[in-house]
Amino acid sequence: MPDVPSLRLHDGRSIPQIGFGTFRVEPGETQQAVEEALAAGYRHIDGAAGYENEKEVGAAVAASGLKRSDVWLTSKLRNGDQHDPRRFLEKTLTELGTDHLDLYLIHWPHPTLGRYVQTWKDLIELQAEGLIRSIGVSNFLPHHLDDIVAETGVVPVVDQIELHPSLQQRDAQEAASSRGIAVEAWSPLGVGQDLTDPKVVEIAEAHDATPAQAVLAWHLASGTIVIPKSLNPQRMAENLGAAPIELSDDELQRIDSLEAGNRIGPHPDTLADSQYPR
Ligand code: A2P
Repeated sequence: MPDVPSLRLHDGRSIPQIGFGTFRVEPGETQQAVEEALAAGYRHIDGAAGYENEKEVGAAVAASGLKRSDVWLTSKLRNGDQHDPRRFLEKTLTELGTDHLDLYLIHWPHPTLGRYVQTWKDLIELQAEGLIRSIGVSNFLPHHLDDIVAETGVVPVVDQIELHPSLQQRDAQEAASSRGIAVEAWSPLGVGQDLTDPKVVEIAEAHDATPAQAVLAWHLASGTIVIPKSLNPQRMAENLGAAPIELSDDELQRIDSLEAGNRIGPHPDTLADSQYPR
């Protein structure tokens, strides 16, 4: 089994730094994909109620025969469910077939009535009850982090944001790390778009690695947690194989230079309320 590094979060818990992403995995292909990921050595599955495949993730964990304590499970509270986090957390737990989550995130800082501050308070309560071990946020910009921390004094353990060589969100990364918040990268490969860049290809070749491994090694070097998604077992293993690759400072800087403002997902602040994902 590949040796995947763990990252210590500010609440003292350790998360495997490479997880398996389940966004845009169809329900009909999820169980097989997650079983294959677990067989390849992934011990961290990143999911969300909004992906509408949590039942299948739960079935895969059950079929794997692994102990619950050996698999880190993350889920996210979807926007349309922020009015009743307890009810929808319980639904997620039932679908995943577990009595607790390792990590629960507010999926988006949905602007309506600044509800995310109240939602953050709700998550703090649910954590105290033991239903969630760690709590964090996703797609939060610095001003959203300011709001929840100022109101509660409780700092999320992670902020999961879109992050890849052509979109590095340095302000959000800086805002997170200066508060001790770990950064999790969604679409760490830029949905594959960043893998054909000649600099990435050249750096990968110098390490006898693939472009995906070079990009993931770049993320890991800055302490970022990555959740690459693949339906292909060979690529699942390839992505885990990024862990031992050490890029030089010069190589890291060459990938840093690929910032191009290439945002694939929505921008939390410019999206109209009605356009927010449900
Ligand atoms: P596939 O499922 O066919 O492997 P991201 O995690 O950045 O959103 O990227 C996911 C996309 O990148 C998927 O389309 C996935 O395709 C592709 N992908 C995942 N791992 C690799 C890899 N090692 N090499 C090339 N493409 C990959």
